[in-house]
Amino acid sequence: MNRSDTIPPDLILAMREARNIVVFTGAGVSAESGIPTFRDALTGFWQRFDAEDLATPEAFARDPELVWGWYEWRRMLVRRTLPNPAHLAIAAWVRSVPRFTLVTQNVDDLHERAGSSGVLHLHGSLHAARCVACGLAHLFPAEIPQEPEGGRRLCPPCCAQCGGLIRPGVVWFGESLPPDVLDAAFAAARACDLLIAIGTSGLVQPAASIPLLAKRSEARLLQVNPMATALDADCDWSLRGAAGVILPRLLASV
Ligand code: OAD
Repeated sequence: MNRSDTIPPDLILAMREARNIVVFTGAGVSAESGIPTFRDALTGFWQRFDAEDLATPEAFARDPELVWGWYEWRRMLVRRTLPNPAHLAIAAWVRSVPRFTLVTQNVDDLHERAGSSGVLHLHGSLHAARCVACGLAHLFPAEIPQEPEGGRRLCPPCCAQCGGLIRPGVVWFGESLPPDVLDAAFAAARACDLLIAIGTSGLVQPAASIPLLAKRSEARLLQVNPMATALDADCDWSLRGAAGVILPRLLASV
């Protein structure tokens, strides 16, 4: 384990020699932008809200207004934030590595707004709602309404094509991840020589298997997180600290 102000020389060498890097991000990379994580004590979404009521297909079938309102509140929260130095450093890093794949569990668009492209969104997007019946993509109006903390009940829009209910474009508990995105992430993990896991507790499968897949394929593993995580034992380096502080330092050292 290393403090954030010391980047071990062998890590600097590994970063300089890496030809194929996978960056794997979780909620912690957006925390300094002001978006709560899921499991951090006191502030995490799942400390304040019950996932069973909000993040399952059954919850949406039972109470679509509650679920739509909550996701609209989260979408508004994201629209009011900006990428932080970690998102910006990741977007800049791509220029110095021959192959670079960014895989995220996040449903915000802060990586894209920082300049990253081709981001693999394992858990979907808050900004990509679709019809439950025919799958037609829903276009959100441009203006950002003010939502009360935690959201309020909101009627989901109806599909312009078939009249079905529009649902959030995120992956819920009990649902499969988009297979093309998952396959691309697994393939990138198998082929990389360095995987950098940033701001994830490593608790949610199958996403959490991505760093371990890279490790089994002989990649080195670096983790950036202020806390201990389920990935600690498998990491070659764990830098303890905030992503927005550590990522710009890492980039500057390459
Ligand atoms: P978690 O909330 O489980 O973990 C967030 C991690 O970020 C924790 O390990 C924190 O210590 C770390 N963290 C907090 N602040 C940080 C900072 N400034 N810099 C770096 N790290 C920081 O979030 P995820 O691992 O992303 O799934 O959760 C995985 C999935 O569980 C989410 O995608 C979501 C959730 O249920 C779905 O919604 C399907």
